[in-house]
Amino acid sequence: MSAIAMETQIVTNSQAASVETSRPFFSIRDMHAYYGESYIVQGVSLDIRQGEILALLGRNGAGKTSTLRTIARTDDPQMRQGEIWLDGKPIHQMKSHEAARSGIQLVPEDRRIISGLTVEENIALAKVAPGNGWSLEQIYESFPRLAERRKQEGVTLSGGEQQMLAIARALARDLKLLLLDEPYEGLAPVIVHEIERILHSIKPLGITTIIVEQNAVAALKLADRAVILDTGEVAFAGTAKEVLDNTELRHEYLAI
Ligand SMILES: Nc1ncnc2c1ncn2[C@@H]1O[C@H](COP(=O)(O)OP(=O)(O)O)[C@@H](O)[C@H]1O
Ligand SMILES: [Mg+2]
Repeated sequence: MSAIAMETQIVTNSQAASVETSRPFFSIRDMHAYYGESYIVQGVSLDIRQGEILALLGRNGAGKTSTLRTIARTDDPQMRQGEIWLDGKPIHQMKSHEAARSGIQLVPEDRRIISGLTVEENIALAKVAPGNGWSLEQIYESFPRLAERRKQEGVTLSGGEQQMLAIARALARDLKLLLLDEPYEGLAPVIVHEIERILHSIKPLGITTIIVEQNAVAALKLADRAVILDTGEVAFAGTAKEVLDNTELRHEYLAI
């Protein structure tokens, strides 16, 4: 390669690198999704920086669960338009198992703990997926309650412990973007605090989180940023503090 060609190549590469770093870690552009002919996710766009927590809020039926499911590339709802980018990868071109392999882990509202398996077997099964997730030792260090109950059947855990197990399973996989659907539902405040502590502790590791919660105040206190959905569209996007400080917004969309 001639010196000029080499120089051109270097310039091009460094330009590419600067574009790369200015791009948000996770980005949705004009996402539309349908259940059959039911048009539900109606042009959602959002950006998240690496390690941030985003609270995705809105009334019942606003499209929060559908948005998480669309990001995770489940078959239902079906995405018909838009782009989803995670760490430079086009998630919108992937099937759900490929999105999971790229680091997107959805913890659904029902948590999907597998019956007939112990806590440890539930985690071990998650680890079967390729990639570098947390080891059992790392998980037990962060989740002492799971360590104590490692031989107990997963479905016999309390609601809070099942939520921890569901998050632990996501950590056992290659986790870049954690999608949590109403993780605090039905949990005592002391358990909510324990889950908050864990979510906080994974931020410096570069794990990015989207949390959907009916307990909007708790989610906003944890989150860096917030998006409020209304009938499948973004009604507000800004910092979590802006929502906490905005009485009108809270009344109109969150009933708090
Ligand atoms: N499987 C489905 N088939 C058809 N419509 C659905 C399905 N699931 C949810 N919906 C509809 O999509 C809309 C958004 O639902 P959802 O995403 O669950 O809202 P949220 O999680 O904000 O409460 C609602 O009108 C709901 O009735
Ligand atoms: Mg929901």
